[in-house]
Amino acid sequence: MASPVLLPRLILGLILGSALVFPAFYQPALERLYEYLLISSIYRASTFETFWTVIWYAIIEPLYTAKFAHNPQLRLAVKKDGDITKPRPKMTRPTHRIKEGLTYIAPLLLLDLTMIKKFGGVPIYDLALSGNYDPSNVSMHGNFLAPSLHRFTFDSPLQTARALPPTPPTSRQLVLQLTSSIVIYDTVFFLFHLALHKLPLLNRIHSMHHRHGEINPQITNQLDIFERLALVMLANFSLNIIGSHVLTRTLFVPLFVWLLVDIHSGLDQEWGYDKLLPTGWAAGSKRHSHHHQHGTKYYEPFFNWWDDTLEWYMAKTAAKR
Ligand SMILES: *[C@@H]1O[C@H](CO)[C@@H](O)[C@H](O)[C@H]1NC(C)=O
Ligand SMILES: *[C@@H]1O[C@H](CO)[C@@H](O)[C@H](O)[C@H]1NC(C)=O
Ligand SMILES: [Zn+2]
Repeated sequence: MASPVLLPRLILGLILGSALVFPAFYQPALERLYEYLLISSIYRASTFETFWTVIWYAIIEPLYTAKFAHNPQLRLAVKKDGDITKPRPKMTRPTHRIKEGLTYIAPLLLLDLTMIKKFGGVPIYDLALSGNYDPSNVSMHGNFLAPSLHRFTFDSPLQTARALPPTPPTSRQLVLQLTSSIVIYDTVFFLFHLALHKLPLLNRIHSMHHRHGEINPQITNQLDIFERLALVMLANFSLNIIGSHVLTRTLFVPLFVWLLVDIHSGLDQEWGYDKLLPTGWAAGSKRHSHHHQHGTKYYEPFFNWWDDTLEWYMAKTAAKR
């Protein structure tokens, strides 16, 4: 029997492969799109990414929640004890979760409206101008690690715009930056997550995320505000450290949100990203559910290699004793 993911796998492989090998094919479309984005006041807004992330979360998570509610046979917990009548965990209607959205948005908006956005490929001149500095006379750092405040004046009380790079990325850059940033995030979050479980102070913060019965899509965002901010900063770092193009960031958001919701879905889905990737690469909802149920292993969010290395190392040191 042919695997149901054969076709999606083929399509995904074709798109990624061609984007890597034939960037010239995609360039005209990318240029048109980017020309349009450059003059869009919504895209140029300093708050764009914050709202963009909320929009994608508000689309993806309710889709998963509905799937969870209406397909008990897909729930990992149901599969495990073979009881299709197992009551489903308490979940909240999407419309009742506005407050959660606001607590997510508030601290990020504060940053958006006070700090100068520093993206890869943007001339210092444009950065200065966007931050209300005199571009001909400013010693500003273009490096994202050096944060710069907006120059607050009566005429310009807030950082409302973000300076964008003048040209679009190639499709090859897009694919390479997207995959590298996901792999980098996977690594830094693995380390951070280990610390969240092993250090008592951090563990207190993280415990909120583990406070539930059966795991379900809504647990994705059941996070202490500090953990949520840390998560956003680490994602930001993973993009910045390789100088990602702003368009890469725009595509990163839906991909990242989808992956996060998928690993928390508690569902064994045909279309889970772990089924699309080569077998054995992805942690998927199975490993992450195991982590949420036991909290003893599987700290890596998206892939398997660091967890497998950790397991191998633990087994080796245990055998020595
Ligand atoms: C993300 O990184 C950009 C570029 O360095 C920065 O301007 C922005 O403030 C950061 N956002 C958050 C939420 O850290
Ligand atoms: C540059 O800025 C400094 C203070 O920040 C000021 O003293 C100086 O006159 C400025 N130079 C020019 C050419 O505007
Ligand atoms: Zn955890």
